[in-house]
Amino acid sequence: MSFSIAELFSQHSTDKFELHEQHLNNQMVRVLKTIGYDRHYKKAVGQYLYDQDGTEYLDLLSGFGVFAIGRNHPTVVKALNESLTLELPNLVQLDVSVLSGLLAKEILKTTPDNLTKMFFCNSGTESVEAAIKFARYVTKREKIVYCEHGYHGLTMGSLSLNGEEIFREGFGPLLPGCSAIPFNDLEALEKALSNKDVAAFIVEPIQGKGVNVPDDNYLPEVERLCKKYGTLFVADEVQTGLGRTGKFWAIDHWNVKPDMICMAKALSGGFIPVGAVAMTAKIMDTVFNRMDRAVVHGSTFSKNNAAMAAGLATLHVMKAENLVENSDKVGTDIINSLNAMSEKYEFLKEARGKGMMIAIEFNSPKSLTLKAAWAMLEAANKGLFCQMITIPLFKEHHILSQVAGHGMNVVKLLPPLTLTQKDRDHIVTAFDKVIADTHQIPGSIWDLGKNLASHAMKNKKG
Ligand SMILES: Cc1ncc(COP(=O)(O)O)c(C=O)c1O
Repeated sequence: MSFSIAELFSQHSTDKFELHEQHLNNQMVRVLKTIGYDRHYKKAVGQYLYDQDGTEYLDLLSGFGVFAIGRNHPTVVKALNESLTLELPNLVQLDVSVLSGLLAKEILKTTPDNLTKMFFCNSGTESVEAAIKFARYVTKREKIVYCEHGYHGLTMGSLSLNGEEIFREGFGPLLPGCSAIPFNDLEALEKALSNKDVAAFIVEPIQGKGVNVPDDNYLPEVERLCKKYGTLFVADEVQTGLGRTGKFWAIDHWNVKPDMICMAKALSGGFIPVGAVAMTAKIMDTVFNRMDRAVVHGSTFSKNNAAMAAGLATLHVMKAENLVENSDKVGTDIINSLNAMSEKYEFLKEARGKGMMIAIEFNSPKSLTLKAAWAMLEAANKGLFCQMITIPLFKEHHILSQVAGHGMNVVKLLPPLTLTQKDRDHIVTAFDKVIADTHQIPGSIWDLGKNLASHAMKNKKG
């Protein structure tokens, strides 16, 4: 009997919602059906998804930032095919591998010069777990400081650094010694560090939930304060890294030198999960300080050939296709073009971000009819207005985007860095039309709004 994924996919591609309803997370299927995102995608290339009717969708979500180089990039496919067909030795474990050595070397060419060692793992959250453990071991301190609204993953250690209650609720007790301070608040940071008992301050250079960009003096001062009080400065670049913000690392906008950088997502090329931590030699040499401690932290599948090959191919593509420069150029153009609309649209507060990490924030308008409509949505569910942007963007303009976090009126764009000028025009025109429609009361978009509000009210009542 032959086995074929192609056959399985074509035989069952329309069964997926039923399969998930029966065997996986049913709530996800409910969400997709409620907001009308229940499509049958058949194909994906670059920044585009195609459904069974051949309709093209522009993907501004990129799997939460995984597909920075676009989906199914041929260079990564070729690298993976080679790594699979060459019968290479893989995960020998009592050995060290060629490809992980090469990938470490390539990544370290991009990081600040104080970082000279790499640790590999399998995901973003695992990179944060490693940073927590390494910081505690090196400093002999227990406490970790993180930021409100921060996101570092959902395993127990990284969840203990999660700045949103909805993710933490009911999963405690979490890791002891973790405390939150406001983002972009240097006074709070100095107060938290001044007892000299904090192992690490872990921070996203630009926060993913809400796309919060700090003041220009923030990260340089973070570096100085961490040094002053003997705390390790950990930059979580799982989302912001590898060109996302228009520089290779987001820390490059401020020329800071953290003690560790966590990375994952885009490094995978969109194929093989991978995570990593770049660190100083001192951290590496302190944690792995004796031969009997050579495996004191690690994970069975880390450094597997496929992940390392995908990582090497991804770095090659980023350079060959000038994707960091494209992220800066096209991303900045999108931010400026959307921002310019705030003068004509009362609901639109601002567009912000860096490169292709973009937030479009909405707020309560001044005129009375619009204000009442806004209040109706906010009363039903804080942040609901954004669904009136993302749903028509998807249904009418075939643009896939997301709301930036729970309870906030922020739409977030995290597209592949391969967006073209034509994609940029499509995005700007579509936003212009959809935002204009929200200013028409009554109108079809407000019929959708009322519908969403009544769903939200029913949900609240349980
Ligand atoms: C900044 C940041 N850190 C860590 C993580 C966790 O990564 P993963 O989902 O691969 O565990 C994410 C995921 O979105 C993230 O954005």
